[in-house]
Amino acid sequence: MTLQDLSTPALLLDVDIFESNLRFMADRVSAAGKALRPHAKAHKCVEVARRQIEAGAVGVCVATVDEAEVMVRAGVSDILLTSPIAGARKCSRLAALAQHLSVVVDHAEQIALYDAAAQRAGSQLGVLVDLDVGDHRTGVSPGQPVVRLAEQVLASHSLIFRGLQAYSVRASHLHEADNRAEYSAKVLAPAAETKALLERRGIETALVTGSSTGTYQADCDSPFLTELQPGSYVLMDVAYARIGGIQFGHALTVAATVVSANHPDRVTVDAGFKAFSTDRPFGPEALDLPGSRYEWAGDEFGFVYLEDAPRRVRLGDRLRFIPPHCDPTVNLYDRLHVCRGEEVLESWPVMDRTASHRTYA
Ligand SMILES: Cc1ncc(COP(=O)(O)O)c(C=O)c1O
Repeated sequence: MTLQDLSTPALLLDVDIFESNLRFMADRVSAAGKALRPHAKAHKCVEVARRQIEAGAVGVCVATVDEAEVMVRAGVSDILLTSPIAGARKCSRLAALAQHLSVVVDHAEQIALYDAAAQRAGSQLGVLVDLDVGDHRTGVSPGQPVVRLAEQVLASHSLIFRGLQAYSVRASHLHEADNRAEYSAKVLAPAAETKALLERRGIETALVTGSSTGTYQADCDSPFLTELQPGSYVLMDVAYARIGGIQFGHALTVAATVVSANHPDRVTVDAGFKAFSTDRPFGPEALDLPGSRYEWAGDEFGFVYLEDAPRRVRLGDRLRFIPPHCDPTVNLYDRLHVCRGEEVLESWPVMDRTASHRTYA
C-alpha cells in the first residue's frame, strides 16, 4: 500500500524519524543517569508505548483514567497517571489497576478517596504528591503543604508514598533553550527544598518526576529530578519547532488532498478544523512545500497559499502537513499510518475510545 491509497485526511508516522527521535531521547536520558517515562498522552498509542519501553523507558505516563486502562490492558506494567482526579468512581477504576499504576494527589480529600477505593479493592496504590511549581494548574504549594499530604499518605491504610511530581507547563514552551533552562531551574528550586524538608522529617522520596520535550536537556542536569516525562518529542509539531533549540524530527504529519485548484495563488485541501488541532494561534505547515502558507477555510477545508512555493500544485495532489500541536491532533484520529517514503508499512490504532468506561463518572 502507498500513501496514494490512503483516504485523506490521514495521520502519518514517518517510521525512520520516529525511531530516531525515540533513540535520541532514550540515549540522552540514560546517559544522564535518569529514568525515562514518556508521556503517552501525546500519542495515545499502545504500539508507540511498547517501542518506547523496548528502547529503555521504565514505563509511561498517562493523563486520563481511560488511557491508564488501555495501557494496562495492553500489558504496560509501570504507569503513572500525572493528573489528579476527583470522584469515587474514577478512584475505584484506578484502584483496580494498582498493581501497574501510581497516581498523583494534591489534596487531602483526594488521598482519603484513593485510600477508601484501594481498601475496597484490596490493593496497595502508589502515590506521588503533585507540586505546583508556578502554573497554578494542579498541585500543592511546595514546603509544609507537601509534608502534610505525604504524612497523610504514609498514615493511610492502602496507599504507598512513592515521591513527588514537579512538572512545569510554562517552562516547556518558552522561546530559546537558555530561557527554558533558566526558568526550569528556578521553578524546581523550591521543589528541591521540599524534598530536603521531607528527608529531614525522615520521609524518603525515591522518585521525583517531571520535565518535557522543551526542558529535558536542562533537566538532565538537574540533581533533583530522578525521572523525565517528555511526550511530544517522539512525534513533534509546529509549536515545538518554533521555540528554538529542539532537535527532534517531524515524525507526525497529516496527509491531505488538493480538492479545488481554480485560483492562481492558492488551492483548497480537504483538511480543516476537523483535521488539525486549533488551540494555537498558528495553523499547520506544509512539509514538502516551503514558502506556502496554510489558512483555515472551514471544518473540512484549508487554503494553501502558494505565493512563494517552488512548484505548481494540481487538483488531486497529496500534501503533508506538520500539525500545530501533536496531542490534540492525534486525538482526532483512529489510526496512525506508519510509512517509509511513499510506502505505508502498517497502521497502529490510536487509543480505542469506545472500549473505555466513559458512561461512568
Ligand atoms: C504532567 C505532564 N508531564 C509531561 C508532559 C509532556 O510534555 P511535552 O509533550 O511538552 O513533552 C505533559 C504535557 O502536557 C504533562 O502535562
